[in-house]
Amino acid sequence: MTNQPVDIVREFPDTSWADDGPTRGVEAVVEDGQVLSFPRLPFVLSHDERRFLDESWADGKSKNISVRWPTGELRGASGSAADLEALKAMVVRYADQSEAFALRLFPHYRGKLRRGNTSFRPTNVAGRESSWRKDDTRLHIDAFPSNPMHGMRLLRVFCNVNEEGKPREWRVGEPFAAHARRYLPSITRPIPGSAWLIKSIGITKRRRTEYDHVMLQLHDHAKADLEFQKDGPQARVDFAPGTTWVVYSDQVLHAAMGGQHMMEQTFYLDVEDLMRPETSPLRTLERLLHRPLR
Ligand code: SIN
Ligand code: FE
Repeated sequence: MTNQPVDIVREFPDTSWADDGPTRGVEAVVEDGQVLSFPRLPFVLSHDERRFLDESWADGKSKNISVRWPTGELRGASGSAADLEALKAMVVRYADQSEAFALRLFPHYRGKLRRGNTSFRPTNVAGRESSWRKDDTRLHIDAFPSNPMHGMRLLRVFCNVNEEGKPREWRVGEPFAAHARRYLPSITRPIPGSAWLIKSIGITKRRRTEYDHVMLQLHDHAKADLEFQKDGPQARVDFAPGTTWVVYSDQVLHAAMGGQHMMEQTFYLDVEDLMRPETSPLRTLERLLHRPLR
């Protein structure tokens, strides 16, 4: 496969997170598998908060500092009680701003969008060592072994908060349906009883459906395919500091090649609550496989 053009990043002029910004009602754009990019929408840190732009605040066990909801508990950071309080306030402010922003962009999701973890990623992408399966410098769709989604959507709001001019360097890839067609012929059905087994020994939090099985296989097949990584359809995208971008990461092929200091908010949405449910990975896979997957 030679490099085909990939052109899925759409830029918008917004400079405000609040309700007064110009862009709204763009559900169809994001559901179509495009990346909404806002190059003039920084998440502003106070003078005091700038000290957190240092990977020494990470506790060394997890690569991200995060706030879990609905508890609001801070995880993955080390410091004094006062430091952690200030760090948490920064992350919580990002959660509030990105939620208000998402609901302005996507009014159809009002009352339906659920807040997932909010994270601050202080570590340098380039230095992150890991196994090939965890290597996010390889193109992939997001699917996690321990967290079956049952078709639920994964919407993410990222913001590059680097203060040294360093972009978040991404690659993005082919549309989801084309990607699914590429690997579906080599994906086998789950072993009967395996969903029950991995749940009962605690690998998954709830039952892994065939949808989850296929999504994990897509994630793994893509990351293991070095030819696809090198020569598959793709485009480089640099998100400069001060840029916010919004993407369905369970649908859009992406890879992070470089950068440091980023905020990220995850939202969950049921397939039925999309404006066009037929665009979802679940419905796309069901169409291609001619059977229900959950
Ligand atoms: C990812 O979601 O694969 C990584 C995104 C990033 O760290 O920029
Ligand atoms: Fe990812």
